[in-house]
Amino acid sequence: MKVLVTGGSGFIASHVIDHLKAAGHEPVNFDIRPSQWQGEEVPFCEGSITDVDALENAMAGCDAVAHLAAAADVGEVQKDPLWAEELNARGSICVLEAAKRAGVKRVVYASTIWVYQDNKELEINEDVNPALPSHLYTAGKLAGEAYCTSYKALFDLDYTILRFGIPYGPRAREATVLALFCGKILNGEPITLAGGGTQTRRFVYVEDIADAVVRSLAPEGANRIYNLVGTEETSILQVAEKAQELLGDGEVVVTEGRAGDFAGAVISGQRAADELGWTAATDFAEGARRYVEWRKAQA
Ligand SMILES: NC(=O)c1ccc[n+]([C@@H]2O[C@H](COP(=O)([O-])OP(=O)(O)OC[C@H]3O[C@@H](n4cnc5c(N)ncnc54)[C@H](O)[C@@H]3O)[C@@H](O)[C@H]2O)c1
Repeated sequence: MKVLVTGGSGFIASHVIDHLKAAGHEPVNFDIRPSQWQGEEVPFCEGSITDVDALENAMAGCDAVAHLAAAADVGEVQKDPLWAEELNARGSICVLEAAKRAGVKRVVYASTIWVYQDNKELEINEDVNPALPSHLYTAGKLAGEAYCTSYKALFDLDYTILRFGIPYGPRAREATVLALFCGKILNGEPITLAGGGTQTRRFVYVEDIADAVVRSLAPEGANRIYNLVGTEETSILQVAEKAQELLGDGEVVVTEGRAGDFAGAVISGQRAADELGWTAATDFAEGARRYVEWRKAQA
């Protein structure tokens, strides 16, 4: 399958490109900046997801689109809501419109388990509708989801919505939690734990997410929503301790909880297991070890 990957130069999408290639597909990277992770063997289309014509041209001959370009850092979204809205909401409808015009069969949309941030349920599967959001990041990502289902209903464009758990691993942006903690230790700075670090996350190793994106292109994935979560709950404190263990001791400072932080309901990934045969294969201890190894090699 020829697959246009938006945001292909970014953290998660660069792994998606690797996994598409490994599975025998033909990925094309569409991004505003070239990739530092792939060479010329992966075609690169420089352009913005807000430019429908550029997207449509890039989608010529593509069977599917994996749409991952976004304003993905919640802090940056809060700082610049209009910029974030242009990427996460407007950019997503542009991708769908271009896919419709180019005759692409499916758009796989990168969403997030943060869409459940305001739900009261303690156990959540994909049949639970996300509550109206209290964070602009989630609002933008939910707009993208709504556009996917609307393009299906109105124009019969197939979608797959993937709600990613909290990713970590090689190529992570420095703002992601394990990367941040490792950076602090290496710089001799204290690790700051919002709310004491007791809040838990279902972290998911980035290559496992990339594997799921590829699997979701199967016919079973059409017009389905999947939570892609790891199999274990890991507290932020445990992340800090793992970083300390792998890199040496660092100081830990406790602060107030962050606005819009996700309290951490138990989110089920059973549907992806049943329908796509996917479970997160890499546990946190192993994924963290691989990340630190990669980081040392980069240095
Ligand atoms: N990182 C997370 O914690 C997380 C969690 C859940 C879901 N997601 C989602 O996964 C996707 C990828 O996230 P990531 O962490 O890899 O992000 P990232 O910031 O590493 O990558 C985003 C990519 O999009 C590109 N981009 C930015 N503006 C663009 C534009 N106008 N046109 C084309 N490309 C543009 C960037 O250059 C970058 O390469 C996003 O949709 C994000 O919302 C991320």
